[in-house]
Parts: sequence; C-alpha cells; structure tokens
Amino acid sequence: MNPATQRPWRIAVIPGDGIGTEVATAAVGVLEAAARAFGLELDFVWFDLGAEKYLREGVSLPDPVFEDLRDHYDAIFLGALGDPRVPGQRHAHDILLGLRMRLDLYINQRPVKLLHPDLTPLKGKTAQDLDFVIFRENTEGLYVGVGGTFKQGTPDEIAINEMISTRRGVERIIRAAFEHARGRGLKRVCMADKANVLTHAHGLWQRVFKEVRAEYPDIESRHLYADVAAMELVRAPEDFDVIVTSNMFGDLLSDLAAQLVGGLGLAPSGNVHPGKAGLFEPVHGSAPPLAGQDVANPFAMILTGAQMLEWLGAEAAGAAIEEAVRQALAAGEATRDLGGTLGTRAAGAAVTARISAG
Ligand SMILES: NC(=O)c1ccc[n+]([C@@H]2O[C@H](COP(=O)([O-])OP(=O)(O)OC[C@H]3O[C@@H](n4cnc5c(N)ncnc54)[C@H](O)[C@@H]3O)[C@@H](O)[C@H]2O)c1
Repeated sequence: MNPATQRPWRIAVIPGDGIGTEVATAAVGVLEAAARAFGLELDFVWFDLGAEKYLREGVSLPDPVFEDLRDHYDAIFLGALGDPRVPGQRHAHDILLGLRMRLDLYINQRPVKLLHPDLTPLKGKTAQDLDFVIFRENTEGLYVGVGGTFKQGTPDEIAINEMISTRRGVERIIRAAFEHARGRGLKRVCMADKANVLTHAHGLWQRVFKEVRAEYPDIESRHLYADVAAMELVRAPEDFDVIVTSNMFGDLLSDLAAQLVGGLGLAPSGNVHPGKAGLFEPVHGSAPPLAGQDVANPFAMILTGAQMLEWLGAEAAGAAIEEAVRQALAAGEATRDLGGTLGTRAAGAAVTARISAG
C-alpha cells in the first residue's frame, strides 16, 4: 500500500506508558522472527516518549523529534499512552493526536477478524462471517476540537463542539475504502452515516459517496444509517467487507466490532496516509493496573505489527504472524484475559516459536 517505501524499513518504536513497553517488546520479538523467516530488513529504533519523559523533562513531542519521525521512518509502532500521574493526559494528547494530525493520517484502518470460534459472543457465527475492515475518518468530524464554552460553571452554561466535514476529507476516505476493496478483491463497501439528522455534514458524505461509488461499478455499495449499521453488525456481520464512516461513528462501530471477535486484547489498528509514515497501535490503552506484572495480552500489539508489515508491502510476513496467533489461540496458548495461563512474554514467545518453526 505504500509504494514509496524501499527496504530496509525503518520503524520507530514508541513503547509509551503502562503495559505499552511489555506488549511492544513482545511484538518486536515477533516482528524480528518474521523478518528472519521472510528475509526482511527491519531497522527498529526505540524512542523515549511518554509519561516518564513528560514528568521528568516537561516535554511530550518536541519538534525535532516529530521532524525525525516524519522524515526518516517508514512506520511508527506505538504501544500505548496514558498515565494517571499526568494531569489531563497532556503528553498522550500531544503525541498521539499530534502525530495523527501533523502527519495528516486520515485513514484509521481497523481490521476485524475472528481468530478463534470461541471468541465471538455471536451465536452460530464463524470466522467466515466475521472478517471485515473499518475505514474511519481520522482527522475531521466531531473530534477536531472546534467549539467552546460560554458562561462556564453557571446554570446558563453553553458547551459547543462543531462537526467539521470537508469535501476533500470526505472524498479521500471514501476513495481509500473503495481502493482497498478493489485492491483486495473485496466485493462490498458500506458507508455508515447519519444524513437523516446531520443533514449538512452527512449530506456531503452522501453526495460524495454517490459520486465516488460510480467510479467503482465492480464493487457493490450501499449506505446504512450508523445506528442501523450497529444493529446489522451484530445481526449479520457476514454482510460486510469494508465499512467507511466518520470519525465519531467509526470510533463507536469499531469498538463494537472489536468486541465481536474477542475484544481489546486482540484489536489492532493503523493510522495511515499513503506515502507517509503510518502510525500503528493496538486499540487498547496503557492499562495502568496491569503494568509491570507480565500479564498484559500482547496479541493486539502483535497483530498490529502484522498489519504494519502488510501496509509496508510484506503481506506474506503479516499473514504468517496472523496465522501464528491463530494457532497459538487454537492451542490455548494465551494470556489470562482470554482464559489462558501465559504471561505477556510467554504469549509472545508462543507466537515467535511458530514463526521461527515456519
Ligand atoms: N491509543 C492509546 O494509547 C489509548 C487508548 C485507550 C486508552 N488510553 C489511555 O490508557 C489509560 C487507561 O485507559 P482505560 O483503562 O480506559 O483503557 P485500557 O484499554 O487501558 O483498559 C481497559 C480494560 O481493558 C483491559 N486491557 C486493556 N488492554 C489489555 C491487554 N493488552 N491485556 C489485557 N487486558 C487489557 C484493562 O485492564 C482494562 O480492564 C488511560 O490513560 C487512557 O487515556 C490510551
């Protein structure tokens, strides 16, 4: 997906806070095994960014570090950010939103795949039924922070957040979803919106969707209102291949979807913009109560690594990592959150061993 990239790939690792370091260490071990098995050159550089640095030095993402990440890396591999000692999670905001916004990573790509039949709460649904991807718009919508408060702290207080949709922003995410479908031989793209009530912003989404879909006659396309899409994801997940949606609805639908295939411990994501360094992170946070105990599930971070390799162009290595996780789950080699008995390091080693064994 990122044709500008040449090997060896330079990957910036930001382990971050809490369980971030543990899951990043396990996942980098898996990626190194995959690199050996598939003849890839992966150059990992670890970055000390996160709560500790912020508390120690008062810096979150200094400009020279941002510029280094932007100019010298193919991908950024982020564990998690969030620490109760930092008021307002200022550092996490600066690093995570700073990278997403400053690199203009407009695609939040969240694959949803059932890797073990026992992991879905849906009766009778199989791995064939639960295999789709969500393209969430990542730079606009209701999350841009435009708005304000008036008469704050009084009974007359007014609070406003404005939803921003631009023609350019809407078109590029819809097009990315169709391109992904076509590139992967997927048959269906569904847009989830609320044009019935958000008549202005999502009226634009509807108009752009109609125009763009006309360029992809080989792909079946439909739209669902986002609330109906939530119901349909539970009732008939097999009807979806690619879902494209706005920032807020993507946030909600992708968490619902993650829970259909095993939850946070297995949910990967990528923030990408073709031609730029992609930011790959598990959906979960830093889980402070679990930190430093070797109990966190590393599979979401490992699957995030697989997604990163696929995006860089090493599809076979990415697929092999996913298959190794599938086999580990089938063998019951998992952490406690999935009913297993392994620690973080051992769960990572279980995947590494399968990749190294070929
Ligand atoms: N992208 C990110 O970096 C990101 C995402 C979400 C939350 N956060 C931050 O993380 C901190 C904690 O947030 P939270 O508790 O709401 O969400 P969280 O994802 O850290 O934890 C939610 C629940 O899931 C469990 N969990 C999460 N990841 C797990 C794993 N890998 N293995 C086993 N169990 C796991 C946790 O123990 C907890 O019960 C906060 O500071 C929050 O702002 C960061």
